[in-house]
Amino acid sequence: MAKIVTVTIDGVKVEAPEGELMIETAKRIGHHVPNFCYYPKLEPAGLCRMCLIRIEGQPKLQLGCNTRITDGMAIDTISDAVETGRRAQVEFLLLNHPLDCPVCDKGGECVLQDYAMAYGDVASRSGMPKMNKPKAVDLGPTIVLDEQRCVLCQRCVRFDNEITWERNLVTAARGVYTIIATEGDEPYDSYFSGNTVELCPVGALTSKTYRFKARPWDVKPTLTTCTQCPVGCSMFADSRFDVLQRTRYDHETADPHGDPAGDWICDRGRYNLSYHTDERRLSMPMVRSGEDQWVDLAWSDAVDLVAKTLQDAAEHFGPQSVGAIGGGRLTNEESYLLQHLVRGLGSPNLDYRLHDELMTTPGRLAARVHDLDDASLIIEVGTNSVELAPVFDLRVRYAVQRRGATLVHLGDVKPNWPIHFRHFPTGGDAASLLQEATENVRRGEDLPKRAGEPPTHALARLLRGAERVVVIWDGRGTAEAAAIERLVETLRDADKGAGVVIVGYAANARGAEAMGMHPALLPGYRPAPQAGLDTEGMLRAAARGALKALLICGANPLLAYPNGALVRAAIERVPFIVTTELFMTQTAVKSHVVLPVKSSFEKAGSTVTMDGEVKKLAVSATPQGGEPLTDREILFMLGDAMGIAMPNEAELEDLAAAAAAPELQQPLRLTASAFVRPARQSVSGEGDLTVHAVPRLYAGGGTSAHDIEFEPLRPHPSAYLHPDEAARLELEDGDVVSLRNALGSIDGLTVATTKMVAVGSIGVIAELPEAPANVLADSFGAVRANVALVRKGRQTANLAGAHGE
Ligand code: SF4
Ligand code: SF4
Ligand code: FES
Repeated sequence: MAKIVTVTIDGVKVEAPEGELMIETAKRIGHHVPNFCYYPKLEPAGLCRMCLIRIEGQPKLQLGCNTRITDGMAIDTISDAVETGRRAQVEFLLLNHPLDCPVCDKGGECVLQDYAMAYGDVASRSGMPKMNKPKAVDLGPTIVLDEQRCVLCQRCVRFDNEITWERNLVTAARGVYTIIATEGDEPYDSYFSGNTVELCPVGALTSKTYRFKARPWDVKPTLTTCTQCPVGCSMFADSRFDVLQRTRYDHETADPHGDPAGDWICDRGRYNLSYHTDERRLSMPMVRSGEDQWVDLAWSDAVDLVAKTLQDAAEHFGPQSVGAIGGGRLTNEESYLLQHLVRGLGSPNLDYRLHDELMTTPGRLAARVHDLDDASLIIEVGTNSVELAPVFDLRVRYAVQRRGATLVHLGDVKPNWPIHFRHFPTGGDAASLLQEATENVRRGEDLPKRAGEPPTHALARLLRGAERVVVIWDGRGTAEAAAIERLVETLRDADKGAGVVIVGYAANARGAEAMGMHPALLPGYRPAPQAGLDTEGMLRAAARGALKALLICGANPLLAYPNGALVRAAIERVPFIVTTELFMTQTAVKSHVVLPVKSSFEKAGSTVTMDGEVKKLAVSATPQGGEPLTDREILFMLGDAMGIAMPNEAELEDLAAAAAAPELQQPLRLTASAFVRPARQSVSGEGDLTVHAVPRLYAGGGTSAHDIEFEPLRPHPSAYLHPDEAARLELEDGDVVSLRNALGSIDGLTVATTKMVAVGSIGVIAELPEAPANVLADSFGAVRANVALVRKGRQTANLAGAHGE
């Protein structure tokens, strides 16, 4: 805790922590010190010299952004001398800055405009022509740079170096010729590129998706929550005439002194927006009238048809013949209604889980995301936070790079971390590695470091030397659950703070679990009196013809479920499937009734982040055509049509809030009977290579696959091979191959060599509609297949996000 000192700013006495930057101390009394390069979450750089202030007793003006206060200082942020210095800086900047304001995207929210008004003169004293620099430099798939507008504050470069640690951006050349460029002239390839546009104090960096679309004063900002992944970033959604134009991170309410790696947004949340107005968006309820034929229905007819068919199935075949899958992409309120409706029909068959995960709520072993700030050891088990929880991953990177935490990954595919980490391959069995290391820790064995030691020794030594441990897990594997529980309890017994963060597979997986979209849990995690079928149980029942009606809300099991053979057989045999969706996804195409829904920007509600925080969604846009409704409206109508007593709106809000109460999660164990599943070890297919489905942030069959502006960012079907494996197979980057086993084939894969997969393995992108990885699997165990060359020769592989090894 820093000592509190007293300084005088502009004649006002101010108390503040010793060592605080003057620019921050001045804010305490509402005095703004102008700045370009300073940003509270970046290290001070002292580059632009706009923040001049005067310190009593010092002959020259000083920089407010990198001078720290000591007791008794007297500082002027307002004086003739300070003003003269700032005027000179603005004059220098305007010497070559173009007169672009009328056509500049930053116009209206540009600090150079503001400072030119406050400190600039009307006429330039220079008679020289302004220097010309390129005005539309393509930095990569997302960003355009106007070199003339750049004031060389290097906020963009510093963000890329200090927050993402990716080092894509650099400064090049010298003096007036200095420009912002990319390392090696490669495209700026980052999941976080859009943050630099926001950080840019002028209009030098612009987003390709927002250039020339709107002005700051004609968009309406709405504070809401991103629902593209479980992180649940707060963001502003800016709309013009009710059409979404852009999203921005929540810098207006975020604590500027909070974790520097928090409060940004990633490019999925920022650039995957134009699907809202995509012409492929579903507009009317539809009923199948033939193999590929659909007929539009009025909402009243569609609701009657669905309600009657669900009720008929329950009456004739028993309530057990009805099931529901979904919730991970719904609001809390919608998940609550969905389980209420299905349980009201008498069926306990419901589940939000689509990836064979056990849970998303870590319960009494939970760590909070901010625990990363104190962690000395971070162990990621199975999951891939780079791809599945990007902004959370920035905090992991920060903990490692700035706080010196050790990062360990247990799994068979290395994440694309641009930072140092230790990788422990597990051969699909992380549990054994964790168990043995934990027992080593329990026994307190002395394990001196030696060459060729088993990985368990290395891991045990790391655990014994750690002060605080955070485990990041994907919630998959009963054995992993038991091993992680034992590990965390062991560390807690040894007074080493430890906990678990679960990265779910859907944005509101945690909310769905809390709301009771679970076969063994009622809302608020209460045990259900009669456990129903989970997703796999429902699919197995469907495959043998026992499931007669399936309600799928905002889920795409045909693409996402790892056991592709099972889900395909199941979906073919259910006589009545009704799906609520924005687009004709792989699952919607196979349904019998499809109901169009509003997006997360078009509805209100609440969601639970992976950190357990309840956040609000607010309406920021309206559908531009058709008659989509919210899942909430649809479920209310279905409940009414089926005569099921539904809560009213006010009751629903209260019920959902009560079910998400944090204290209800505390007693949950990872090994609670509600989560345990039988061990699943069988192998799918035969072949030379073990196939790994590699998650990629921009994959998926819904909003990202139906967004023209997002299209350049989408990954192409790829076959990731270790360079040694590629050499053995006589394959090179750019060759086109197929991957086959007895169950199916994935075609059109472009070879990309990378050390993220081991020799003997091949990585294919998970949940990519063009090349669905699950066609090769008929179990949840390892998948084996053979690779076959289709075409020799270099093709363009889209490696967006696949930086590093
Ligand atoms: S592009 Fe923008 S953020 Fe980057 S140095 Fe130039 S003015 Fe600063
Ligand atoms: S990290 Fe997740 S929640 Fe945050 S902006 Fe990206 S996709 Fe959205
Ligand atoms: S804000 Fe202080 S030098 Fe740029």
